[in-house]
Amino acid sequence: MPPHDGVRERSGLVRDRETERVRRFYDSVADRHDTSIRLFEKLLFADGRRWVCAQARGDVLEIAVGTGRNFPHYPMDVRLTGIDLSPAMLGVARGRADELGRDVDLKVGDAQALDFPDARFDTVVATLALCTIPDDRRVVAETWRVLRPGGLFLLLEHVRSPLLPVRLVQRLLDPLIVRFQADHLLREPLRYLEAEGFVIDHLERSKWGIVERLTARKPAS
Ligand SMILES: C[S@@+](CC[C@H](N)C(=O)[O-])C[C@H]1O[C@@H](n2cnc3c(N)ncnc32)[C@H](O)[C@@H]1O
Repeated sequence: MPPHDGVRERSGLVRDRETERVRRFYDSVADRHDTSIRLFEKLLFADGRRWVCAQARGDVLEIAVGTGRNFPHYPMDVRLTGIDLSPAMLGVARGRADELGRDVDLKVGDAQALDFPDARFDTVVATLALCTIPDDRRVVAETWRVLRPGGLFLLLEHVRSPLLPVRLVQRLLDPLIVRFQADHLLREPLRYLEAEGFVIDHLERSKWGIVERLTARKPAS
């Protein structure tokens, strides 16, 4: 990304404008995020967080961890690391981890360029994350890189519906939601996962095909 398209960070990296816009958006909504997401989450995702976290094992990385809404659902024996672009969202997550008495290593980071060595984690978790991150394909590639062979990528996401009338509504709303909520309605991470080499162990769609639960595995060899 050429410098004129980005914001120069202290580290010297150039972060692209859209990623910077997303960070500013989440920094600005962090203190009301939990309240505003509650109803949406209840209507669409039911026990999805529990479903995802119950499968996590070993060294776990949660990308775009937000305010840490998954923390109560992880087994106590996982070693949890969480990254997020927004320091303000991470501030809320720290408070939640403290309240729950959970030891979580929380860091500011970009899921499009993970600051971890190859094959560092047994599990990567992404819930309501790929819908927000500007380059979701890069996130899938980075997830593949940091996962150990045999590792799991666990996803809970809202995606493009296969039903035409629903998809048309999503198409109409998408530009507005992207602009004002930094959220994409027409994403379909499955195709990137398969292209990257992940094996899909479980795929479930619900709510007119909008909600996806997915377990993908990086093959052992
Ligand atoms: C809708 S919230 C979901 C938070 C959390 N995953 C959950 O399930 O509640 C989206 C989160 O993605 C984070 N995010 C957006 N782009 C990111 C990026 N490139 N790298 C890391 N986090 C990012 C935002 O800061 C925000 O906390």
